[in-house]
Amino acid sequence: MGKLSRVALLYIGAVVVLAVALDARGPFTGLHWQYVVFLGILVIVSESRATQLRKGQLTWSSSSAAMLASVVLVGPVGAAIVGACTALGLRRGPSILQRVFNTAMYALSAYLAGRAFLALGGQVGLPDETSFPDIIAPFAGAALVLVLANHGLLSGVLWLTRPPDRMPSGVGVGLSGRLLLSDLGYAAYGLLIAALWSVVGFFAPLLVLIPLLVARWAVAQFAEQQKAYEATVGALCQAVETKDFYTRGHSDRVSRGSVMIAREIGMRSERVEAMRYAGMLHDVGKLGVPTKVLQKTGKLTEEEYAAIQLHPMRGLDIVREIGFLDEALAGIMHHHERIDGRGYPMGLAGNEIPEFARVLAVADAFDSMTSTRSYRGARPVEEAVEELRKWSGTQFDPAFVDAFVAALKREGWPHPEPPVLAADDLATVTAQDHDDPGAPLRVIDSR
Ligand SMILES: [Fe+2]
Repeated sequence: MGKLSRVALLYIGAVVVLAVALDARGPFTGLHWQYVVFLGILVIVSESRATQLRKGQLTWSSSSAAMLASVVLVGPVGAAIVGACTALGLRRGPSILQRVFNTAMYALSAYLAGRAFLALGGQVGLPDETSFPDIIAPFAGAALVLVLANHGLLSGVLWLTRPPDRMPSGVGVGLSGRLLLSDLGYAAYGLLIAALWSVVGFFAPLLVLIPLLVARWAVAQFAEQQKAYEATVGALCQAVETKDFYTRGHSDRVSRGSVMIAREIGMRSERVEAMRYAGMLHDVGKLGVPTKVLQKTGKLTEEEYAAIQLHPMRGLDIVREIGFLDEALAGIMHHHERIDGRGYPMGLAGNEIPEFARVLAVADAFDSMTSTRSYRGARPVEEAVEELRKWSGTQFDPAFVDAFVAALKREGWPHPEPPVLAADDLATVTAQDHDDPGAPLRVIDSR
């Protein structure tokens, strides 16, 4: 959280005051403090090791299971105290204000969950065989309240503290929906802990949470791996775009356009992710083309055209050993094929061209046309769409042109800032963009 608005501070203050006011009413007599202390320690341990799934995403931990177990074992007030133990988590990163808000949020959600449990007929205390199945409905209600309250309060603070230029996106809503479902799933562990407690006592949370912690460790490894993938792809993109000032941001936007098409045609999520990488890396082969050819301001010779036409193959050579790219490799190799068979490097036609390559070709050409190049300004979106339509069926797959135009109408397109060149950069620009359908490369038959 940076500098907060007055509304955001009021919101955080209201959550804190409400949490304290509800919890302070007690009653504290008759609380089984041994449960509270033990489950509180679990929350502290859990919050000290919350897993960051990916940069910018929310964290998750197993503390909600401990809070829900306390709803059953010690009721709303005890659950709120267990939730408030979040404050003692040793995780570095959150500011004091974030920590205060998180503590109040968990205490308030746990309290409300406890109230829901009682309201639905739940009995506070150690459950035994006779508690089932009657306990299931009140527990499910409590879990739902806990998860909804957490997500609702958190969404509120994220909304109020977002940077002014960032509007809510469909991706964020999707992510929130997935996290909500997974949190509801994890909530079931709370009932398992409470139910096992009468059999194995204080070992119950350990028996339940150790497998959960192991699973979380595996997820953390996966998240680390994802970060390494992102860094690898980012570094390669940076290297490509350093070669040509005018194509900066091109890889990101081609990636965005390709993902728009992929989603529009209903590709499953793993393929959409591979499509995103394909967009980022489609021109990685430029690294294998001499810089003096890419940046040449005069007319290109036959050999120089041929060198540029080699970039899809060079791209494949550079990244073929990167296992996670998978289907993206075919996209990188064939993104300059044309439906009529007059593209390169193989001259494939129609459905012989891999699907990823046909998607990339549309997004690639569109971004090239709507970006400023050294030899012309950016063309308007409508004009670029007309151009895509004009070449639909000869250069581009008509189905993907249609899908792109439909997604474009719904989602819009970022307007890239025209690059501002320093005087000494003037010699380092590309004279001709190989992606621009308005200035197509002459195809050299090298087969
Ligand atoms: Fe290319």
